Amino acid sequence: MSNPIYSLQVDLPASGVDRSYPIIIGHGLLADGERFTELLGDAPVVLVSNDTVAPLYLPRVRNALGKTRKVTEVILPDGEDQKHLMSADHIWQQALKDHHERRSIFIALGGGVIGDLTGYAAACFLRGVDFIQLPTTLLAQVDSSVGGKTAVNHPLGKNMIGAFHQPKAVLIDLDSLLTLPDREFAAGIAETIKYGCIWDSDFFNWLVQHSDALRGRSNDVLAEAVQRSCAIKAGVVSQDEREGGLRAILNFGHTFAHAIEQTMGYGAWLHGEAVACGMVMAAKISAARDQLSGETVAQLEQFLASFDLPVEPPTEMSPEGFLEVMAGDKKVDRGKIRYILLQSLGEACLVDDVTIEEIAQAME
Ligand SMILES: NC(=O)c1ccc[n+]([C@@H]2O[C@H](COP(=O)([O-])OP(=O)(O)OC[C@H]3O[C@@H](n4cnc5c(N)ncnc54)[C@H](O)[C@@H]3O)[C@@H](O)[C@H]2O)c1
Repeated sequence: MSNPIYSLQVDLPASGVDRSYPIIIGHGLLADGERFTELLGDAPVVLVSNDTVAPLYLPRVRNALGKTRKVTEVILPDGEDQKHLMSADHIWQQALKDHHERRSIFIALGGGVIGDLTGYAAACFLRGVDFIQLPTTLLAQVDSSVGGKTAVNHPLGKNMIGAFHQPKAVLIDLDSLLTLPDREFAAGIAETIKYGCIWDSDFFNWLVQHSDALRGRSNDVLAEAVQRSCAIKAGVVSQDEREGGLRAILNFGHTFAHAIEQTMGYGAWLHGEAVACGMVMAAKISAARDQLSGETVAQLEQFLASFDLPVEPPTEMSPEGFLEVMAGDKKVDRGKIRYILLQSLGEACLVDDVTIEEIAQAME
């Protein structure tokens, strides 16, 4: 079995069974047969990936799962536009045709799209089977694979149909980041610095100091960035699994980001790109409220811009346009738009009193 660089635990309140699970971070994990045997026993597997990731990584996972195990492979077309109920139905059909049972385990090999979709398919199949996340994008490694939010998109809204369904384990093979296109890598970086902003100012400063090494995808620095991000997400999820309160802080920058994604059409801006811009807007509003220094806002902007992430909203958008779209967001509570701002660097706060003037200023 390969030695992980880091191993963390997501602790969850037991509801009959212990649902806590490990996040294992290292190299060569996708090919680690002994680890799969330890996690899965001889359970049959439904292995889901897409036609970009499968040619790169599926053969080594298939091999590691062993020759005697029943494995059903489901390879979907790549893209956010595949994250819909028909793709989940395709997974269910393959699983049913191959007579999978309750002890079968679904495995998601890919980015957040495959992870969210496979998790949702697992949550519903035979009223819920276990699943394992093998995230291959930086965004999925630091964010979407941890925490148990699974979903598909609906024509009337993104991630509108879903379930909370925690994985049985998350195996993060850092080697997979070597083939990730720069733009996707940068999108993951945006979520990484989010954790520094909302939870840990030391991590924020560390990321800013190590931005050159991160851009160069240095093994050690990446491993530490992924581990620190996962540790923060795991800590928040452990305290508030179903977003009754604290977990909302993970949405820093996301209220503006969703409005940008929706206005520009999904896919025009990557999620992480929209989050980068949204975080800068939220940071500017925090600074205007004297909760954050102008220097910190400038550091955030410079860090994001050094990864070619957008720090200004699209010219197509106006303050009125932001408000109109945000009013339809699923995070609206009793008619009020909720925003995550920074009380200080490393500390988030939830507010619902941001004015149109503040939004206009944050767009400058
Ligand atoms: N569940 C959650 O908590 C949560 C959190 C954040 C985002 N999300 C969801 O995650 C999705 C976005 O995830 P994403 O950014 O990973 O996008 P993605 O899954 O679309 O992956 C991005 C692109 O990279 C390709 N790819 C993946 N791994 C690769 C690799 N190692 N080498 C080369 N190419 C690779 C994919 O095929 C795709 O083309 C969205 O649907 C979003 O809603 C969910």
